Amino acid sequence: MNIKKLNLVYFSPTNGTEKILKKISTAFKNIPTEEFNLTKVENISKKKFRNNECVIFGVPVYSGRVPDVVLERLKAFSGENTLAVLVAVYGNRHYDDALLELKNFVVEQGFKPISAGAFVARHSFSTKDFPIAENRPDKNDLETAVNFGMEIFKKIQENNYDEVLVPGNFPLKPKSPRINSTPSTIEEKCTKCGKCKDVCPVDAIEINEIVKTNSDLCIKCMACVKICPVDARLILDEKLLKISKKLYLNLKEERKVEMFI
Ligand SMILES: Cc1cc2nc3c(=O)[nH]c(=O)nc-3n(C[C@H](O)[C@H](O)[C@H](O)COP(=O)(O)O)c2cc1C
Ligand code: SF4
Ligand code: SF4
Repeated sequence: MNIKKLNLVYFSPTNGTEKILKKISTAFKNIPTEEFNLTKVENISKKKFRNNECVIFGVPVYSGRVPDVVLERLKAFSGENTLAVLVAVYGNRHYDDALLELKNFVVEQGFKPISAGAFVARHSFSTKDFPIAENRPDKNDLETAVNFGMEIFKKIQENNYDEVLVPGNFPLKPKSPRINSTPSTIEEKCTKCGKCKDVCPVDAIEINEIVKTNSDLCIKCMACVKICPVDARLILDEKLLKISKKLYLNLKEERKVEMFI
């Protein structure tokens, strides 16, 4: 089949997932491509994809699963037996049940998943003191992403729509309990520029005389920490620091991209 359109549907607070999806899409030469970036809720409206299109879904892995906020936002998208590619992006620990969860979800929404990949990107909890997969995706990862795209493109052109099998536990393992911590702000350094508020995917930040973070809304994506131009937004909370340190100490070995085509 010659697909008429490629669609990239992704959630990516710290841009790792976005980078990988864009690289994969470069293999679909001359196919019109549209992006649906779900990171900001205002970008989302109901959309049904036709059966002559292909959708690449990209999600970050949070605690071995697809974040709840992403599943909620994905509900706006449906297909009519539309071909789908599943991409889970994780921070060098593991993707656990995320691909299987994403697959089950998109099947319910009317998609036909034909390929999947698990890619590594910088861990959201990576800091100067505790770097975790700091340079991922690297050159190899990005080359692999292009090759992955080429394999999928070939599979579609050969009319091979076999359903992809992905690893994962069924029933899915329970989600980890929520931590009520958030990144912190060093008020003396903060210029109140508002960049952290603008980038927050769940509108958890309010800026008046000080920067206030709603811990019930915060998903700990660390987009605010990454974007702050003066390093005033940091991981200082003890529980979050402990997680960063533990991951840093335990994730020395670089995991490779896994593809299911
Ligand atoms: C709350 C939270 C939980 C995470 N859990 C995992 C995990 O279980 N395994 C893993 O390898 N990485 C985990 N990560 C790291 C992210 O999957 C990784 O940094 C990903 O690249 C983020 O995607 P983005 O750059 O598109 O935002 C987690 C990150 C956050 C914020
Ligand atoms: S991005 Fe940094 S400097 Fe700007 S308001 Fe947020 S914490 Fe303050
Ligand atoms: S406040 Fe929480 S949810 Fe918002 S950008 Fe920062 S870490 Fe992410």
